[in-house]
Amino acid sequence: MTEKLVPPHRPLILVVDDQRANRELLEAQLDELGYEVRQAVDGIEALEAVAEREPDLVLLDIDMPRLDGISVCRRLKAHPVRRLIPVVLLTASSDREVRLHGLEAGADDFLNKPFDARELLIRTKVLLKDRTLNARLDATEGVLFALARAVEARDRYTIHHAERVGRYAEAIGAAHGLDDEDTTLLYEGGVLHDLGKIAIPDAVLLKPGPLTEDEFAVMRTHSVEGERICLSLRSVTYFLPIIRHHHERMDGGGYPDHLAGKDIPLGARIAAIADAWDAMVSDRPYRAGLPREEALRRMRANAGKQWDPHLVQLFLALLDRGLMEKVAGSQLAASA
Ligand SMILES: [Fe+2]
Ligand SMILES: [Fe+2]
Repeated sequence: MTEKLVPPHRPLILVVDDQRANRELLEAQLDELGYEVRQAVDGIEALEAVAEREPDLVLLDIDMPRLDGISVCRRLKAHPVRRLIPVVLLTASSDREVRLHGLEAGADDFLNKPFDARELLIRTKVLLKDRTLNARLDATEGVLFALARAVEARDRYTIHHAERVGRYAEAIGAAHGLDDEDTTLLYEGGVLHDLGKIAIPDAVLLKPGPLTEDEFAVMRTHSVEGERICLSLRSVTYFLPIIRHHHERMDGGGYPDHLAGKDIPLGARIAAIADAWDAMVSDRPYRAGLPREEALRRMRANAGKQWDPHLVQLFLALLDRGLMEKVAGSQLAASA
C-alpha cells in the first residue's frame, strides 16, 4: 500500500432516534459503508455522547422524549467548536414547517424517512467531506494562534498579554450587548492583535529601554504586518480590522490610518482599550507596571481623545466588578 500523508480515519456517525428499529437500520447501512456508528435514544443522550467523543456527523430524529432533535441541533450549532459537526435531521414527512424549523436551528441537511440507501450514502459522503474541510480551516486558525504564542515566547515580558487582551475585549463586547459569536471573535482577535510583532527584529522588540523615534517607526509596522500575514486566510477575515486598527485613536492621532471616532471599527475600539489597559498595568523591562489608580486616572483622562468614551465607561464598570482579578484567575487556571 502507498504511504499517505493523511492517515486513514474511519468517520464516526452518531445516530439519534427513539425508535430502535430506525437506529438499527441506519447502523446496519452505515456500517456497510465503512463508518463507525454510535447510537443515542434521545436528545439528552445525544448531547452526552457528543461531549464524550465528538462525532463527524449526527443523524438526528426530531420527535423524541426528554429533548427533541431541533433543540439538540440548536445547542450544537450554538457551541463554538461543535457547531462544525454536520447535523442531518431525519424527517418523517416533507412538512415545510418542520424543515423551516430545522433550518432555523442550523441543520445542515435533511433525510426522509423511510430511508433510501442511496440518498443516505450520498448525503453522508458530501457532509463528511465538508467536515474535513472545516477541520482544516480550523487548523489554519490554530497555526495563527501558535504564531501569536510564538510572539510572546520571544519576549517574556509580554507573556499572556495577548490572552488577557482577548479576555478583556470579550468582556467589553458582552457589556456592550454583542452576541456570543461577536464576543468569541473579540476574544480571538484580542489574542491575535499583536501577531505582526513576529516581523519586528529582536533589537527593537526586545530592547530593554525606551525606543528611539526610528525604532518606534519600526515597531508601529506591527499592525500592518499582522494584517498582511492574515490577509490570505479567509477564516480570519473578521479579525483583520482588530489587527490593523488596534492602535488608532479617537482623535485621529493613532496609526496606521489615522482613523477617527466611529470610523475606527468597533472591534478595534474595544481591543484598543483592552490592550492599553493591560500594557499600562503590566511590568516591562524598563519600567514597572502603573498602580491601578494611576492607570484608571489615565483611562478616564483620555476617554474621548484616545479611546471611545462609552466603551471606557463600560470597561471601568467591569473593572469595578473585579474583571482584572477574574482575568488573572482564569490565566492561573489555564497555565496550571
Ligand atoms: Fe499592538
Ligand atoms: Fe498589545
